[in-house]
Amino acid sequence: MTSVRLIEKIVNGAQTMDGDGVKLTRIMGTPELNMLDPFLLLDFFGTDEPLDYIGGFPPHPHRGFETVTYMLAGKMRHKDSAGNEGVIEAGGIQWMTAGKGIIHSEMPEQSQGLLAGFQLWVNLPASHKMTTPRYQETADQDISTDVLSNGGRLKVIAGKTSQGTAGVINNPHINPTYWDVTLVNDDKIAESIDSDHNVFIYVISGSIAVAGSTTPLTAGQLAVLSSGDTINIANKENTGNSRFILVGGKPLGEPVARGGPFVMNTREQVEQAFQDYKSGNFI
Ligand code: FE2
Repeated sequence: MTSVRLIEKIVNGAQTMDGDGVKLTRIMGTPELNMLDPFLLLDFFGTDEPLDYIGGFPPHPHRGFETVTYMLAGKMRHKDSAGNEGVIEAGGIQWMTAGKGIIHSEMPEQSQGLLAGFQLWVNLPASHKMTTPRYQETADQDISTDVLSNGGRLKVIAGKTSQGTAGVINNPHINPTYWDVTLVNDDKIAESIDSDHNVFIYVISGSIAVAGSTTPLTAGQLAVLSSGDTINIANKENTGNSRFILVGGKPLGEPVARGGPFVMNTREQVEQAFQDYKSGNFI
């Protein structure tokens, strides 16, 4: 018997600043939604005002989890202490496993125009918190999409769709789903995701109807979905196109100890991370 995932909770996020004065909306990792295991934080940055982003994110450390950057517009140059460097362009994804430690910078490549994207933090299990750092990076043109009946698109960054289209990210710990969906006119999706996975959606533009809810979910809102094995989402009539991301993963079910850029299992491990960073013995 199928069980449809419903909206369990809606959050609106909060305006904040991070890095060197980058204005962003923190949607997860706030008092309203602290985390959704295995996801620890979700930021959305989207502005055409260069002063809102030009400072970027100068060198800073991470340990114990993964940072996932998905660019919607503009370019972000990343550079790290291990000598890796590259530019994530619009539509591209970077899934960085910080593991035992990395110091990196994330800087806008342009000084004018629109910059927009997401950063998601994905937890690592205790057994892999101190793993060797790793990058999975894929450009827009190398990510597969399903075309929907009215011309919409379901872009599969991670996971697999009912049409058999598979994503580019390999992560055996949480077996993630990360879709960028555009709905046109009467487009709708009916898809399956493992019933033991936690799933959320965030609306980038327009508004959508999630099965079981009479109130549309609108741009800027995140919905945590209930458990179930099927997802039914439709474009909301008379509102033009809509676009949202849908993200899911298997919860780790482990204790979480946070300390700024470090996410470990215990307070002692976080203190150790600060000590290792301060003593220059980080990576
Ligand atoms: Fe970072």
